Amino acid sequence: MAIKRVGILTGGGDCSGLNAVIRSVTRSAIIKHNWHVIGIEDGFEGLLENRTQPLTVRSTRDILPLGGTVIGTTNKGNLFAYRRVLPDGTLATEDRSKEAIDNFNRMGLDCLFVVGGEGTQEIGFKLHQAGCPVIGIPKTIDNDLYGTDYTFGFQTAVQVAVDALDRLTTTGKSHQRVMILEVMGRNAGWIALESGIAGGAHIILIPEIPYDLEKVEEKVRLRAEGGSPFSIIVVGEGAREMGGEQIVSAAAGTRLQGVAQLGGVGNYIAGRLGRNLDLEVRCTVLGHVQRGGTPTSFDRLLGTRLGHCAVEAACQGEFGKLVALKSLEVVLVPLDECAGKVRTVPPGHQLVTCAEAIGISLGRA
Ligand code: F6P
Repeated sequence: MAIKRVGILTGGGDCSGLNAVIRSVTRSAIIKHNWHVIGIEDGFEGLLENRTQPLTVRSTRDILPLGGTVIGTTNKGNLFAYRRVLPDGTLATEDRSKEAIDNFNRMGLDCLFVVGGEGTQEIGFKLHQAGCPVIGIPKTIDNDLYGTDYTFGFQTAVQVAVDALDRLTTTGKSHQRVMILEVMGRNAGWIALESGIAGGAHIILIPEIPYDLEKVEEKVRLRAEGGSPFSIIVVGEGAREMGGEQIVSAAAGTRLQGVAQLGGVGNYIAGRLGRNLDLEVRCTVLGHVQRGGTPTSFDRLLGTRLGHCAVEAACQGEFGKLVALKSLEVVLVPLDECAGKVRTVPPGHQLVTCAEAIGISLGRA
């Protein structure tokens, strides 16, 4: 089938590098293949509501260094389990995939590029199974998408966290305080682990290794006894104490997204350490700062490579695949192998052993 018209949407939480992908898909599709490119606004919502914008070489000019996504996104539009609030305040779920597929056909699209994380790729895969030719492009600051070594957006988030750690280090040292930085990452500790190592943290707590608070206290106390009352702790938002639960700021059942909002573990640990140690403890929650702003060169380059390879995959009819980075090469991975699956930190990962070998505590019992 000769492709004439393609659509692109960005779904889930935004991250830096999305505009690099949009620009690369648009330019590759137009300059090399002379296709028409349609931007679907606000993720799958735009597919349901027929909200689109034409993308051209001119309209995507200057967007490479911009954070966010020029076509918008949402993490609320699961077409197969669409949630909305009823007048009585309760949540109802319905399957709206047929409307989306009808709109896809009405738009005259020959291919849909779905840019998103694990949840978005799962929806894309189901759309593909239902007859829409889909190609997935992996994105998320969490770096937890199965099938790819790196997602774009991650390196930028790590750099933001490292910058924060450098700043917390100077103020923490001056005041001889214990400084805690809570970073994002959901159930994966990649951001905490990489930023903690690169930012010189003394303790890194990740969701994959439940922490023992006594071990955390011991590390801080030993440092203080050795003449360094200052310590830096990086904690992933999904980390939990041994035998305890993750700390959530909003439960899944109350949210349109259908997943819990994590947050609060940094302040929880600060409270406990503050009570048990004779030291001042402060917590900083980095939050959405990790998702905004200009992408690093790594993420611009990765986004551009993935966008180009996605267009070539479409040209060769390789639908139902994810363009993925494996050992520095962009390859195609079947969506059914990776959609909806997360890649967390294996507790024996080389980064974990490296961290422990250089004296960083992971709060293990
Ligand atoms: O998945 C990306 C992410 O930033 C997670 O790290 C975080 O838990 C979540 O999204 C925050 O979502 P929201 O933007 O809905 O608060």
